[in-house]
Amino acid sequence: MRILSGITSSGECHIGNYFGAMRQHVRLQGEGEAIYFIADYHSMTVVRDAAERRRLVREVALDYLACGLDPARAILYRQSDLPEVCELTWILGSVTPMGLLERSHAYKDKVAQGLPVDHGLFAYPVLMAADILIYGSDIVPVGQDQKQHLEMARDMAQRFNHVYGVEVFRLPEPHILEGVAVVPGTDGRKMSKSYDNTIRMFWPQKQLRKAIMGIVTDSTPVESPKKTDTTLFQLWSLFATPDEREEMFERARAGGLGYGEVKKDLLARLLDTFGPMRARREELAKRPDDTEDVLADGARRARALGAPVVAAAREAAGLGPAR
Ligand code: TYM
Repeated sequence: MRILSGITSSGECHIGNYFGAMRQHVRLQGEGEAIYFIADYHSMTVVRDAAERRRLVREVALDYLACGLDPARAILYRQSDLPEVCELTWILGSVTPMGLLERSHAYKDKVAQGLPVDHGLFAYPVLMAADILIYGSDIVPVGQDQKQHLEMARDMAQRFNHVYGVEVFRLPEPHILEGVAVVPGTDGRKMSKSYDNTIRMFWPQKQLRKAIMGIVTDSTPVESPKKTDTTLFQLWSLFATPDEREEMFERARAGGLGYGEVKKDLLARLLDTFGPMRARREELAKRPDDTEDVLADGARRARALGAPVVAAAREAAGLGPAR
């Protein structure tokens, strides 16, 4: 079984990335041929500074390794070390109807907000399809927010196979973790690198406390019963067992539980959960060349896995001399 997923290096990773994706990536690395990458081509629609792009790739690589990605059991590489995906993007884009891309949520949201949209954002799902299809990936573990992109990748694979009459691309399955939908940010919207609402697992304690104390809550007094389907309780629940959650929710419904107490407990649980990973990250950060070696070795291994699919797509489309 081939497993493929990626994270865009448009910012440092946050607990939405961790619970929605990275935790699954680490768990799955023993269960098949796991390939993970840092999507720096995708970051180009947001980050417009060369040094910042390189810095963010390093940060995301450290986050991944600290969270348990083991280069002996999984491939980790930088997307731009495999420019072949750009060729595949063109090959797929030339069979992708405009209408399909116009239905993309990310594109529609920007248009609705009246923000400028460039071709990179419009073509974003095609590049993502190329990332997936280049390895004939079987499953793609991602958070709920990426589901539409996966459906589009399946559409593009089907369309290419149909147009050229050859089964070049395998249709991937999404793999969305049950029970973890979209992790909310401190303002109640989806936690996202593009909004100022993230909680980063490796922030210094002071910064973490500030972010957690800033989670939106209503003004229900301490003694009154509280609703539990709120941002604060959703975030707290990420760090609790089902029994602990039941107990906490009972206390909330009964009244007498203050939001401050829940926030303090959330901070303690967060520091506890990510403590060992933080220590590992600090160690890894002292040897940046090692991380670069992991990425370079990952790119070599990924290229070998992707080459047959690129060759088959070129052959099917009649690109280059006949083989
Ligand atoms: P990105 O960088 O936005 O997110 C990386 C992973 O984290 C998940 N995620 C979340 N899960 C739950 N709650 C949240 N608030 C939250 N925010 C992010 C995402 O679902 C994702 O799994 N386009 C992709 C990167 C990409 C990719 C690919 C992924 C490029 N090519 C090919 C899979 C396969 C992205 O921007 O993810």
